[in-house]
Parts: sequence; structure tokens; C-alpha cells
Amino acid sequence: MPETTERWDSVYDDDTAPWVIGRPQPAIAELERAGAFTGRVLDIGCGAGEHTILLTERGHDVLGVDFSPRAIDVARGNAESKGVPEARFAVADALALGTDPHFTGAYDTVLDSALFHIWGTEPEVRARYVRSLHGVLRPGGVLRLLALSDAEPGFGPRIGAEIVRGAFADGWRLVSLEPARYLGRITPMVADNVAGLAVSPAGLVEAAAWVAEIRRS
Ligand SMILES: C[S@@+](CC[C@H](N)C(=O)[O-])C[C@H]1O[C@@H](n2cnc3c(N)ncnc32)[C@H](O)[C@@H]1O
Repeated sequence: MPETTERWDSVYDDDTAPWVIGRPQPAIAELERAGAFTGRVLDIGCGAGEHTILLTERGHDVLGVDFSPRAIDVARGNAESKGVPEARFAVADALALGTDPHFTGAYDTVLDSALFHIWGTEPEVRARYVRSLHGVLRPGGVLRLLALSDAEPGFGPRIGAEIVRGAFADGWRLVSLEPARYLGRITPMVADNVAGLAVSPAGLVEAAAWVAEIRRS
């Protein structure tokens, strides 16, 4: 999995990102239908922008941010082509949002779809990210997390429930943590890791994930 902005940019340039599936994750669409997104919403690590586009279409006040300028280009083009040009995007580093005056305490809901799990083996960076999230949310605000799970074979960086519980032990309340599914596309980046996963006729695979509601104290 890429670590630097340039490496993340490159997967958008060569269109090898397995998470770019041309539509929102069904788990996020279901959360939206259930009323999980309220107030000002920040979609962190928005990638190709599918969730920001969905939430904008549904009338939410949402901003999608990603530290890859190429991801943001792709997201803007995606929003245009889906007829939602008003969807808002910006380049920003998730690790630094909590101390940026534009973001501090400004959000009621944060969406993290498939970002948190990339720091599965880097506890210090994960802790920095969690501090940044704490800074972004107003007290009582909610993080909606969708992360790949290690409960089954799958693709990408996968984490156990204990990583989520440990990361949000202080300054947060874990309201719920449930098994979910994450849809991915088979690209050279993950082709070696998808053996045994059922592939849909559209070339998509479904992997185990966690969906969590985590409230900032
Ligand atoms: C696995 S993708 C998920 C994209 C999207 N949320 C989805 O579910 O389709 C992770 C995204 O996080 C972005 N990212 C990685 N590190 C980041 C950071 N420090 N700050 C902001 N975005 C970051 C990457 O550029 C990439 O677009």
C-alpha cells in the first residue's frame, strides 16, 4: 500500500486503485439512509469522491479531503460526470487537520472509509491520526468508520477489532463496532491477494470489514 502522496497519486494516474469502484460503498449508502450523517460532514481520505458525491446529492453539507492532489482531480471529474458539480473537495493531510484552524472543532460527523486501516502496523501514526480526528470533531461529534477486517482473507491492509477499540479508548466512546463488507475492484495491486474471494460479473470482490460509530467525548 502506498505511503507517500506521490505513491497514492500514482495509483490514481495509472488507475490501479482497487477501491475505485465507480460507486459508493453499499455500507456507506446504508448508513446514509439510516440517518447516520448529520450536520457538517468531513469525508477524510475521500479518494475518487464517491461518498462526498452521494452525501452532496442527498443534501448534506459535506467536504471531501485527500492528501493526493490526483485523487482530488479524479473526485472533481467524477462529480462533474455524475452531474453533481457542486460537490466540494480539497487537498489536505488527515494527520494535520486537528490543528488546522479551518478544521478544528468544525465538524459534526467525520466519515473514514478505508483510511484508518492503512496504519494498522504503525501505532504512532495511528495515534496521530486519532488525535487529528479528535481535533476536527466538535465535542459529541461522531466518527463513522469503515475499515477492512482481518476476520477473513482479503485484500489491502486489514485490522482486528482490538485495533479499533485500542485506538479510541481515551477521549472517545465506542458506540458500536459491527462486521460489514467492503467492495473492491481487482487490479494488479491486489490480484495476488484475492484468491478464494468470489468475483462478481462486474469484476468486484467483497471483503470483510468493520463499521463503527465512535463518539468524541
Ligand atoms: C484506500 S483509499 C479509500 C478512498 C475512499 N475513502 C474509498 O473508500 O473509496 C485511501 C485514501 O486515503 C488517502 N490518504 C492516505 N493518506 C492520507 C493522509 N495522510 N491524508 C489524507 N488522505 C490520505 C489516499 O490518497 C486514498 O485516496
